[in-house]
Amino acid sequence: MTSTTQSERSEVLQFDPMTGDIAGRAPTSRRLSDLSASFADQQACSRLLAENPVIYRVTQVEEHIGEGQIHYGIGILMPGKVGREYFMTKGHLHEWRPAAEVYIGLRGRGMMVLEDERTGECYAVPLEANSTVYVPGYAAHRTVNVGDEPLVYWGVLSSDAGHDYGTVGVRNFSKVLVEREGQPVLMPRADFLRELEASRA
Ligand SMILES: [Fe+2]
Repeated sequence: MTSTTQSERSEVLQFDPMTGDIAGRAPTSRRLSDLSASFADQQACSRLLAENPVIYRVTQVEEHIGEGQIHYGIGILMPGKVGREYFMTKGHLHEWRPAAEVYIGLRGRGMMVLEDERTGECYAVPLEANSTVYVPGYAAHRTVNVGDEPLVYWGVLSSDAGHDYGTVGVRNFSKVLVEREGQPVLMPRADFLRELEASRA
């Protein structure tokens, strides 16, 4: 009889779908100052930086490493806006570009913005409690809270996927999710920046 290694054993974790906490695991917090360059309205961002609110927390389970292994983790994204742009995550590509990911909504009302690195196509899909989103490979992805309570979700992906924040940090996404007459609207960043400029002229 062969003995199993630690990584081959099953693992049971308790989590709270309201708070995004996983028992025994420490979350990482991201404040506005950690992703201020991501928001389009830099004037509104500067004003809110005085408070520097926590925008999101993530708790990752990443100790299973190697062929066939899986990483998973919970994100909790707070409700709020920077100007008219909803609170969102920094967003990333996977270092291993073909690696897909599944998001599982636990609480709240949000959207994911996806941008295919190969075609430039940028679109948004709903991410809500009791729904899943399949994020295909080669897609930069960002989570956005368009509701008025925290958005909580799992993400599950190959342990080989890796995270590339740098490319999105430089390029950002070509579209922004902003509020217009109480509704979330996905629009080209360039158009939104022009609207901002016109409103301040
Ligand atoms: Fe991802």
